Amino acid sequence: MTSYVAAIDQGTTSTRCMIFDHSGRVVAVDQREHEQIFPKAGWVEHDAEEIWENTRAVAAGALAKGDLVASDIVAVGITNQRETTLVWDRTTGKPVYNAIVWQDTRTDKIVSDLGALGGGQERYREKVGLPLATYFSGPKIKWILDNVDGARAKAEAGDLVFGNMDTWVLWNMTGGVDGGVHVTDPTNASRTMLMDLDTLEWDAGIAEEMTIPLSMLPEIRSSSETYGKVREKGALAGVPISGILGDQQAATFGQACLSPGEAKNTYGTGNFMLLNTGTEKVMSDNGLLTTVCYKIGSNDTVYALEGSIAVTGSLVQWLRDNLGLIGSAAEVEQHARSVEDNGGAYFVPAFSGLFAPYWRSDARGAIVGLTRFVNKGHISRAVLEATAFQSREVIDAMNADSGVPLKSLKVDGGMVVNELLMQFQADILGVPVIRPVVNETTALGAAYAAGLAVGFWKSEDDIRNNWAQDKQWDPSMDEARRESEYRNWKKAVTKTFDWVE
Ligand code: G3P
Repeated sequence: MTSYVAAIDQGTTSTRCMIFDHSGRVVAVDQREHEQIFPKAGWVEHDAEEIWENTRAVAAGALAKGDLVASDIVAVGITNQRETTLVWDRTTGKPVYNAIVWQDTRTDKIVSDLGALGGGQERYREKVGLPLATYFSGPKIKWILDNVDGARAKAEAGDLVFGNMDTWVLWNMTGGVDGGVHVTDPTNASRTMLMDLDTLEWDAGIAEEMTIPLSMLPEIRSSSETYGKVREKGALAGVPISGILGDQQAATFGQACLSPGEAKNTYGTGNFMLLNTGTEKVMSDNGLLTTVCYKIGSNDTVYALEGSIAVTGSLVQWLRDNLGLIGSAAEVEQHARSVEDNGGAYFVPAFSGLFAPYWRSDARGAIVGLTRFVNKGHISRAVLEATAFQSREVIDAMNADSGVPLKSLKVDGGMVVNELLMQFQADILGVPVIRPVVNETTALGAAYAAGLAVGFWKSEDDIRNNWAQDKQWDPSMDEARRESEYRNWKKAVTKTFDWVE
């Protein structure tokens, strides 16, 4: 009998279940989008119960599409949008508030007040590897406890628990109010601002400063071990859940970036470039994050440097949904191809402030360089180029931090089907850009973590051997043009600062 591994990928815009065979090929997939809730400018929420319903539905859907049953699946892994914060009542299973999404900037004031205690943005960097920013979970938990009626008292009484979406999905899959397992892994925990990067334990001092009771926090286990079995009576009933990785770390794992110096860039709603730094924790002097890359069972922790960009693919969606300038995301390439270049226009999508390498929550988006010459094609091009320029800034920071210039870049995610973008990315970086055959590296990485724990894959060499190249784009832009384009971009970025007091 052939066996398979399943992965639940709970992402920012949708939830998917993917089933993989031993060679890492996709056998079946099912996907459901969930609502993006924008109650105010800068606020972004998800309905966690809708997400849980979707999770159950896609698990059933993927099995049905693959003509499979639970006994064909040897393990399931979970990967998720990171930082998105949920607090729920462990006695009723009900969230006390919507999930606050990683892009949400409402914790601005909390973050600046914490920084004002001393050390500013760098206050917790040495312990947690992160600058103080609205992006991370800790301040979002504090916001919920401070603003939801009765939440703090219930949290202090031990009734409320916190989880990122990995923990929410795991808790529900393993029984919810009826014995659900309250666990996370170090990759997710390293995005809360509450975990000590050396000990992989919650830091009581930081939790206290953020007024978060430690009893709310999940137990931190490794990224690859059996946490429990699917207990709810869904499609995967009885299958062991044995892998958890935050989605960007999962993509790094799925891309087989398993040795120090190997990096990938994922083009999703945002872009996230991770460089494996091995068992060494490298602190950034250039606006990057230090984060856990993965911890497989009892093996040593592997760390990464990360460049997080808040808005890339979601800018294309914005063009479609908010402006109606394109009918579908794919159309952006068609319009961009109708012109020779950007016509002098640059679009800096600082919709959630700017993440790496700037970490400016006061920034807001700008389109600059406009003349009457500029048309829909030029704006489409500027939209795509924004992704490539932001990735160049992150790569420059990585090269500066690591001292070893990257020689090529592995890419994955939804936007890598866009050939114009991939060529421009190679041009603006000046190094080859390489796309693998299996582009679904996020789900694949979670499947690998789960499959390794149950012996379906024997070692990381299996992962390396499964990786295969699909296409490579080589730089073809001359150096002078590359640098003048990049200088213009940098100038455009400075126009986005100081929009929020
Ligand atoms: O840190 C946020 C990241 O994990 C979100 O990824 O792919 O859901 O946009 P994605």
